[in-house]
Amino acid sequence: MCGIVGYTGSQAARDILVDGLRRLEYRGYDSSGIALSDGERIRTVRRVGKVDELAQAVESWKVASACGIGHTRWATHGRPSEANAHPHSDCSGKISIVHNGIIENFVQLRDQLQAEGHVFKSDTDTEIVAHLVEKYYDGDLIAALMRACERLQGAYGLAVMHADHPGVIAVTRKDSPIVVGSSDDGDAALVASDIVAILEYTRDVVFLEDRQYALLTPGNIEFFNENGKIIEPEFTHIDWDAENAERAGFPDFMLKEIHEQPRAVRDTISGAVKNGRVLLDDLTLDDDDIDAIDNVYIIGCGTSYHAGLVARELIERWARIPTTVEVASEFRYRNPIVSSSTLVIAISQSGETADTLAAVRIARSKGARVFAITNCVGSRITRESDGTLYVKANMEISVAATKSFLAQIACLMLIAMFLGQKKGRLTTRQVKSLYYELRETPAQIEDILQDTDVIEQAAKMIAKAHSVMYVGRGIGATVCNEGALKLKEISYLHAEAYAAGELKHGPIALIDEEVPVVAVVTDSPTRMQTLSNVQEILARGAHVVAVATEGDTDIEDIADYVLYIPPVRDWCSAITASVPLQLLARYAAVERGCDVDHPRNLAKSVTVE
Ligand code: F6R
Repeated sequence: MCGIVGYTGSQAARDILVDGLRRLEYRGYDSSGIALSDGERIRTVRRVGKVDELAQAVESWKVASACGIGHTRWATHGRPSEANAHPHSDCSGKISIVHNGIIENFVQLRDQLQAEGHVFKSDTDTEIVAHLVEKYYDGDLIAALMRACERLQGAYGLAVMHADHPGVIAVTRKDSPIVVGSSDDGDAALVASDIVAILEYTRDVVFLEDRQYALLTPGNIEFFNENGKIIEPEFTHIDWDAENAERAGFPDFMLKEIHEQPRAVRDTISGAVKNGRVLLDDLTLDDDDIDAIDNVYIIGCGTSYHAGLVARELIERWARIPTTVEVASEFRYRNPIVSSSTLVIAISQSGETADTLAAVRIARSKGARVFAITNCVGSRITRESDGTLYVKANMEISVAATKSFLAQIACLMLIAMFLGQKKGRLTTRQVKSLYYELRETPAQIEDILQDTDVIEQAAKMIAKAHSVMYVGRGIGATVCNEGALKLKEISYLHAEAYAAGELKHGPIALIDEEVPVVAVVTDSPTRMQTLSNVQEILARGAHVVAVATEGDTDIEDIADYVLYIPPVRDWCSAITASVPLQLLARYAAVERGCDVDHPRNLAKSVTVE
């Protein structure tokens, strides 16, 4: 998705902006650009393709500038092209603007502006904002931006410069994140759509609220509400280590993040149970609230939705509360049956996913209590929900979610225990025992990560296929959903996950020696049934990669490759069995020469519908 970075200070803005854009690459983009103000006019360079292309284009650029804005674009209105890349400008060429989000009424506004004589040079919705600021500008940049924004419908994070205001950047947002901060040395001010772009320079930042404005000058930031009144928003201190955003010696972020999973799970569950009582203080529900809950609704997208599937299994198992899981993009348009007796859990790694945010608003408008599970401090979902539980995965850079997924599952397991205990279905002793088992999982992940040879070999076979089927039952089926998604998104192989018992109702027609099957046959009450399905698969000549429990040597007689996980209860295998499938997808992607961290057409944070 699009990314914004801006800098005003005393150093060369060009290098800081290019560096910031590189840090935003993980979000996914198709073109990029920067604009620098040299005190007299604004100069812009834009390129289609990687930020490297832009970096080369500006390398010999002799613009002495300590103020500029940059952008990575992910095409929504207009194809990827230099003309459509940001920054965009007005008729006078004095205004330069970068934008994240979508302006819904842009056609209507463009028609009006064209009728007034404005000339457009791109197909984007963004360019109208530059012309609107031009229309309302009478010497006061922030006032012109405010008037322009009054006309906008939709989502926007905006950073604007004007040639007549050297060293000044005006910013605002609505439904699209913007963070600002002064540099730690006090000389500069920075803006970004994602803290990772500016973390090297600032740690104390303000996440702007909707319709708040900020005026950045070297070393100073003034904040305004939409009426132009000066405000003093709260600063948030970011603990993340800038180094954390680097690959730490791993060939790609995905592998690094897979290896960070033991810590992500450990940190997420640490201290959550004391003396057999689940302590989730952020889940601010008193006994009356809990009594009133008669159903749970879980919403999310993609990987977060898959974490929800695991949660349904466990909330129903431990708390016996009927639980529905739905992708947010469906929930939001379906008039779902949600009321004040529904506990809604909204899961989003980024906390900025447009569909999930819309679903949260709908659930709340129907009277439900909504709790968010997110990895991102200060993200939108935390402000739109009744409460937030943070997973402690730390910054996730790779587009393919891995450590955030395991941390989400761990967090949801705690919620399921909490509800089970509060509803009187789990005793203190049972909670102690469940928590003991959960605390073993980080070490078990470490074991799996010790030796990945067989996974790599299996990936070589998978990489040659055109289509791969994933099958399992119960928790195993939920693990398969995520395994298949990982393979699709980073290796561009078709993959489908099926509940193993469903195979014979249709999909088995696809199975032959050309379609490998990944079967999750770890210890579980339905292992024997899944094994029968594996036999049906073998009878059709398919190659089988089995995920099985250590000690299960029989499986070696029937599977081509066996990826072992340590012995665990089936619910814990939601965590441990996911790891070999993440690695399988990652090695298959590498084998196929794919860019693991930047899969085509995908973005880390999907802030548009
Ligand atoms: C897949 C992946 C996506 C996200 C989805 C929701 O690896 O990362 O499927 O899970 O876009 O994103 P969040 O969790 O940020 O709401």
